[in-house]
Amino acid sequence: MEKTPDDYFDGLFPPDPMLAKVKEEIQKRGMPDISVAPGYGRLLTLLTASSGAKRALEIGALAGYSGICIARGLPEDGRLTSLELRPDYAELALANLAAAGYGDRAESIVGDALGSLSRLEEEGRRFDLIFIDADKENYLNYLERAIRLAHPGAVIAADNTLLRGRTLNSDKQGPAVLAVREFNRVIATDPRLLSAHLPAYDGLALAMVR
Ligand SMILES: C[S@@+](CC[C@H](N)C(=O)[O-])C[C@H]1O[C@@H](n2cnc3c(N)ncnc32)[C@H](O)[C@@H]1O
Repeated sequence: MEKTPDDYFDGLFPPDPMLAKVKEEIQKRGMPDISVAPGYGRLLTLLTASSGAKRALEIGALAGYSGICIARGLPEDGRLTSLELRPDYAELALANLAAAGYGDRAESIVGDALGSLSRLEEEGRRFDLIFIDADKENYLNYLERAIRLAHPGAVIAADNTLLRGRTLNSDKQGPAVLAVREFNRVIATDPRLLSAHLPAYDGLALAMVR
């Protein structure tokens, strides 16, 4: 049987027991298996490292898969702040980050991300890399907050901009689809951003805050 491009490229990289353990935990606990794709995780590591990011912010932690990928790209004195609605997910994500060796550079903030983002802004916190991967209805709100929380030159990345094809299907008019379409339009046109949309995986948006 012919391999998919994902299978082909994933097969070129050495096994990754840390990330495999995160996936096992997700299965064992019956959590949704909605972590970023392995190749997207590698891209997050690369973006973090190549941008020289020291302060990273993730919106939507789940079990810590993308958190580990981002933490891998941070310098030793870097820090990942991870926002997660569910306390049990946040606890697991932190435990997995600690098991991967990043316990000392990871912090978790539990609660609705919009509230957490307001508090971070009030506290004057600023970030070099922001990864958006939580409830799709709020993507545009997250983007606005991300821009306000970004240092100039900061990288913003977001997952699921294709919503498994629903974004492209004009019959689909649900709140998540409408929100993601508007998010995608703003990413492409906002003069505050230098941006790209990639039709890889479930669609990913990349931007740099000018
Ligand atoms: C797609 S998963 C994140 C996957 C993770 N980034 C990864 O790749 O490993 C989305 C996460 O966002 C969380 N979430 C959903 N709504 C949220 C909200 N309003 N505030 C904070 N987190 C939220 C969910 O509980 C879930 O863990």
